[in-house]
Amino acid sequence: METYPFGSGRPDPSSFPNRELAEAAMRILPELGDELARYPGSLGYEPMRKLVSERFEKREGVRLPVQEVALTTGSMQAVTLMAQTFLERPGDVVVMEEFSYSGTLGAYRKEGAELVGIPLDEDGMRMDALSDTLKDLTDRGKKPGFIYALVTFQNPTGSIMPVERRRELLQIADRFEVPVVEDHCYADTVYEDCQVPALYTLEHEVPVVHIESFSKILGPGVRLGAFTAPQPLLGEILSYRRDGGPSTLTAAIVYEYFREQMWNHVDEINTIVKEKRDLMFEMLSQFPDAFEWFSRPKGGLFIWVKLPDTTDVVACEQRAEALGIDYATGKAFHVYREDVPYLRLAFGYTKLDEIRKGIPKLAACVLETQKVEAQGVAD
Ligand SMILES: Cc1ncc(COP(=O)(O)O)c(C=O)c1O
Repeated sequence: METYPFGSGRPDPSSFPNRELAEAAMRILPELGDELARYPGSLGYEPMRKLVSERFEKREGVRLPVQEVALTTGSMQAVTLMAQTFLERPGDVVVMEEFSYSGTLGAYRKEGAELVGIPLDEDGMRMDALSDTLKDLTDRGKKPGFIYALVTFQNPTGSIMPVERRRELLQIADRFEVPVVEDHCYADTVYEDCQVPALYTLEHEVPVVHIESFSKILGPGVRLGAFTAPQPLLGEILSYRRDGGPSTLTAAIVYEYFREQMWNHVDEINTIVKEKRDLMFEMLSQFPDAFEWFSRPKGGLFIWVKLPDTTDVVACEQRAEALGIDYATGKAFHVYREDVPYLRLAFGYTKLDEIRKGIPKLAACVLETQKVEAQGVAD
């Protein structure tokens, strides 16, 4: 059976540099001496941390202090460490976008957090709602442990928060003295010029932790990410790290490949994925009855699609699954797990032909699963 993998946010598989990484390993491993016979320490392989800092500088215009950059097993490890650090007891609050990354929601629920959602518009988290919510929580003696923010190519909605709103977010965080965690893992998956400075680089008084990943520009199987936080917070976060430190083997090989190839690779992969995004836009727009509205993200790996309110979302998912169509349901991203009439389509991993054939099939699933309104009986 043909399959249509629109479910998870992975990069284009054909661009994964298998051979180049093998060559990089051949070059670097003999140079490592006894490094692999030692534990990496909680920050990790220094040349790779320098590269993380340079990547940040190229994008943001400022260098990250290398001694404040820690490598992680993907950004997800950093995301989880935040809950362990900032939350003290079950029921402590994390404030986040009303729709947010399902992996984070699962991790924070497992850590016993109470998740409080802030409504979004096309520019991301709404600041009036953030301010009101923080005031209400503070008045009730429930000051949040932190704000988890996806300000750049928000997952799932794809929005990018303008700089003025970013400044406002930090001012509100300062006013209520709530730390901010900026998960920036899509920062380099960009298809149109739309650079906005990271929260980390803007003026703030509360601690801002900045998280990056190599999953979206290389591959999630590599399991490499990084975060940066000011001291002494960094030391506190790392005290929750219980894995012996990030793999030197992985970091050294990726470093050796990326030290010259990172931006060529990013340009190449973004060109490939942009074509898929454009095709997905084009296909979706052919079915206005099924897809009432969809986001037009300038970067990231997802399109957020609104279905007609009358869609039976559970039946639609079952029908799609039977046809081999994989997508993520709106409910998976909703802070309060509501069965909202949305779905998220990932366009990075799938092939062009699968988009061309799969979107019409998905449209048919949506149109065939409309609930029939109860008809009033005429006298
Ligand atoms: C917002 C967000 N954060 C973190 C992750 C986890 O990525 P990683 O593979 O770097 O752990 C993802 C993956 O989809 C994500 O979308």
